[in-house]
Amino acid sequence: MGSGRGLGRLALALLMVAAAYAGGRRGSQGCDLFAGTWVFDEAYPLYDSGECPFVRKEFDCIRYGRPDRGYLKYRWQPSGCELPAFDGGDLMERWRGKRVMFVGDSLSLNMYDSLLCMLHAASSPHARINTSSEEASVRFEDFNLTVSYYLSHFLVDVVSTKIGRVLKLDSLRGGKAWLTADVLIFNTWHWWPRTGLAQSWDYIQEGNQTWKEMNRTVAFSKALCTWVKWVRSNINPDTKKVFYQGVSPSHYHGNEWGESYQRSCSGETQPLKVSTYPSGPLPQETIVKEIIPKEIVTLLDITLMSQLRKDAHPSKYSGIAASNDCSHWCIAGLPDTWNMLMYASLLP
Ligand SMILES: *[C@@H]1O[C@H](CO)[C@@H](O)[C@H](O)[C@H]1NC(C)=O
Ligand SMILES: *[C@@H]1O[C@H](CO)[C@@H](O)[C@H](O)[C@H]1NC(C)=O
Ligand SMILES: *[C@@H]1O[C@H](CO)[C@@H](O)[C@H](O)[C@H]1NC(C)=O
Ligand SMILES: *[C@@H]1O[C@H](CO)[C@@H](O)[C@H](O)[C@H]1NC(C)=O
Repeated sequence: MGSGRGLGRLALALLMVAAAYAGGRRGSQGCDLFAGTWVFDEAYPLYDSGECPFVRKEFDCIRYGRPDRGYLKYRWQPSGCELPAFDGGDLMERWRGKRVMFVGDSLSLNMYDSLLCMLHAASSPHARINTSSEEASVRFEDFNLTVSYYLSHFLVDVVSTKIGRVLKLDSLRGGKAWLTADVLIFNTWHWWPRTGLAQSWDYIQEGNQTWKEMNRTVAFSKALCTWVKWVRSNINPDTKKVFYQGVSPSHYHGNEWGESYQRSCSGETQPLKVSTYPSGPLPQETIVKEIIPKEIVTLLDITLMSQLRKDAHPSKYSGIAASNDCSHWCIAGLPDTWNMLMYASLLP
C-alpha cells in the first residue's frame, strides 16, 4: 500500500472531522444535543445555591451538609457541537410578558426551582422579583414574566367517588388551568409505579372499565395518549410553546451502572464518564419518544445524560431526616443543564 493513499485517507478523515465540527457549530439545529458526555469544567456551577432564595430544602444539598463539590463542576458536552451558554437576561427578554408553567410531579418542581435560581442569578441586585404567597409562582416584574409550578402527579385526573379514589386514564380536566400559560413544561412518571401506602389511588379506570391493578407502564402510556389528545385539541403551536421534560431516572440499584445491586447513589461523587448507560434506556423514555407529537411538543430528552449522573442526587443531604433520596437532584446541579437545553431549543 502506497503512503499516498494513506495520506489521502488521513486527509479525508480530517475533512470529515472538520465537517462534523462545522455542522456542530451551526447550533442546536442538526446536532443531537442529548447525546454526549460529562466533562469537568471549573467554571461551573452557574450560580451559588446559597445566594438563591428559591431552593427548597429537599434540593438544598450544601445547606444540609453535602461535603463534596465535584458534582457541581460538570458540563454537558454534546458529541457533535457545543451546548450554547446560558444567558438568563436573554431568556427573560425572549419571555417578556409571558407566563411559563411547569406541570407535573416533584421532578417538575426540581426543574422549576433550578430555573428560578438561574433567572435570579441573571437578575440585577435591584431587580423586582415577587413571590406569590403559595410560593408556586414567581414574578420577574422587570420583564412582566411569571414562572409557576402546577402540581399534577399523573397529568390525568384522580377523582374521589363512592368506591374510592379513581385514577381516570382518559380524563384530563386539570388542563383548563394550564391554558393560562404561554410556555408549558410537562412531566409525569415517578408516581405511576407506586404501590401500597405510597399509591394515591384505589382504582384505575378507562371508559366504562374499572380495575384494581394494571401494568403501570401500560397505564402510563394510556394516560400519555390522553395528554397528547389534549395537546392536539388545545395547543396552537403558533401561540404557545410546549415542552415535555423527559423521564428522569433514579439511582437505587448499582447493578445498573456496574456496581452491586445494594449500592445506591449514596456516597457517589463522580458521574459516569461514558456516553451510554450500562443498563440501557428506560422503557418509559422509549414510550415518550414514540407518543409525543413532535410538531407541537419539544422533547427534552434528558434521560441518558441524567442516568450518567449517579453523583447528582441529594441522597441523605435533602433536609429530610433519615431519607436517602436518589430520585430528585441537588440544586445547583443537573436540572440546570435541563434548563440550558430548554433555552438552547429557543435559539435560532
Ligand atoms: C404583562 O403581561 C400580561 C400577559 O401575561 C399582559 O396582559 C399585561 O398587559 C402585561 N403588562 C405590562 C405592564 O406589560
Ligand atoms: C407583588 O405582587 C403584589 C400582589 O400581586 C403586588 O401588590 C405588588 O405590587 C407586587 N410587587 C412589585 C414589586 O411589583
Ligand atoms: C363499554 O364501552 C364500550 C365501548 O365504548 C361499549 O361497547 C360497551 O357496550 C360498554 N359496556 C357497558 C357495560 O356499558
Ligand atoms: C408491563 O408492560 C410492559 C410493556 O408492555 C412490559 O414490557 C412489562 O414487562 C410489563 N410489566 C409487568 C410487570 O408485567
